[in-house]
Amino acid sequence: MKQIAVVGVGYVGLVTAACFSDLGNRVVALDINEEKIEGLKRGQMPIYEPGLKELVERNDKAGRLSFTTSYPEALDSSEFAFICVGTPSGVEGEADLKYVEASARSIAENMTAPLVVINKSTVPVGTGDWVADIITSHQPEPIDFAVVSCPEFLREGSAILDFMNPHRTVLGSLDREAADKVAQLHLPLRSPIVITDLRTAEMIKYASNAFLATKISFINEIADVCEALGADVKEVAAGMGFDERIGPHFLEAGLGYGGSCFPKDVQALAFMADEMNTDPKILHAVMEINSQRRLIPVQRLEEMLGGLKGKVVGMLGLTFKPNTDDMRDAPSLDIANALLAAGAKLRAFDPVGMQVAQPLLPDVEMAPDAYALADGCDALVVNTDWNEFKQLNMTRIRDSMRQPVIFDGRNIYDPQKMADLGFQYRGVGRGYDGAKTKVSLKSAKGHAV
Ligand code: UDX
Ligand code: UDX
Repeated sequence: MKQIAVVGVGYVGLVTAACFSDLGNRVVALDINEEKIEGLKRGQMPIYEPGLKELVERNDKAGRLSFTTSYPEALDSSEFAFICVGTPSGVEGEADLKYVEASARSIAENMTAPLVVINKSTVPVGTGDWVADIITSHQPEPIDFAVVSCPEFLREGSAILDFMNPHRTVLGSLDREAADKVAQLHLPLRSPIVITDLRTAEMIKYASNAFLATKISFINEIADVCEALGADVKEVAAGMGFDERIGPHFLEAGLGYGGSCFPKDVQALAFMADEMNTDPKILHAVMEINSQRRLIPVQRLEEMLGGLKGKVVGMLGLTFKPNTDDMRDAPSLDIANALLAAGAKLRAFDPVGMQVAQPLLPDVEMAPDAYALADGCDALVVNTDWNEFKQLNMTRIRDSMRQPVIFDGRNIYDPQKMADLGFQYRGVGRGYDGAKTKVSLKSAKGHAV
């Protein structure tokens, strides 16, 4: 049993604190946001994450997990301090490290015994060295410490599962002993542990997220070709995925990626590469493709409705992905603003995210459920692939709409079934039978086939 301090009770920090306490450690979770800490002391979660409330309650009750805004209290008797504060994008796309700097400084000023400081937040390559300099220069008196990079690989909506069942734990440090101590904390997870240097560990995180984002932009580019040629991208992805070198995951075409990670991390990696003049063509293309996905619903609905002015459009889902309340860089934000600018009247329903979304979309009327949303709409747009949208009574939906028009931005419905129900249906890359010119196939001998 070890004593651990966790700085930041956001999507990453609170899951990290709760999971390490569930493994039997004594964890003190700190945040500078007093409202969040007071809420947690009352059992109120600052974020929506399936299973988190129960995990926090159980470990709080067992005396393994507590909350504070005081650095001295958090660091007292702690052997480890995890930095889990946000690293948002700066104006040029670089990672803004002001919160990491503030945390490292507060740790330096309040530590009273040797400490292993672990960067869990996604930070640019070289940040570990920079954090070490901050600590050295802000300690009132020299106290031994080491910095370890331990990047998070948590998906929102499955963060606890991902923490407890990691594909791998990556540790980077110039101090092998410190890395081994952090490895010990992760032994109960029984996952492969990669121990390397600081910069390599930091790059593993960025390269991993950038590759996953690249898979998404790749399949979205293929979707556009499928749409033009009449192929079905969902089946193309399934056929590709049997190849173990490709794999079936992260090949879902649609409205592209959002959230607090992929957009920020791809941008930050491209920024670092541009700074080093390595000419990151793929990274820029990945971002360009992704940003264009958000224009598709407006284009399609213009085509399907013959114009958007005055039309009532219902948005099914607002959050950047299912099973979260997170609206950070959600495609629905750009899509909603584009539809409003085109003169549409917008309504929306999201199972979890409406409270977070409403202040961001003040001109959008929120509906209590999907059926109420559909009532009187000229069209529906699927923004988020929430499971509860997949088994809706589509006959009831159709009969309550003014026009049975659906743009399925996440390909959750079957085109044939929707056509049979009388919907005017468009997905993304679904072998649309209005495909443009067929490529004339030439046999090996050059004859048309
Ligand atoms: C995480 C990771 O930290 C980030 O690297 C990754 O790229 C995105 O996910 P996240 O947990 O989503 O960030 O950040 P957020 O939900 O904003 O939570 C950060 C918390 O840190 C906030 O509660 C904030 O109040 C707190 N904080 C911030 C501090 O406690 N101290 C500070 O100095 C700054
Ligand atoms: C991601 C990484 O998966 C995780 O390892 C990292 O630690 C943090 O960033 P997260 O952003 O929470 O996790 O969600 P994820 O499930 O990866 O989806 C990210 C975005 O990509 C969502 O907007 C989702 O809709 C989109 N996506 C995902 C696709 O468009 N197609 C896919 O096939 C998969």
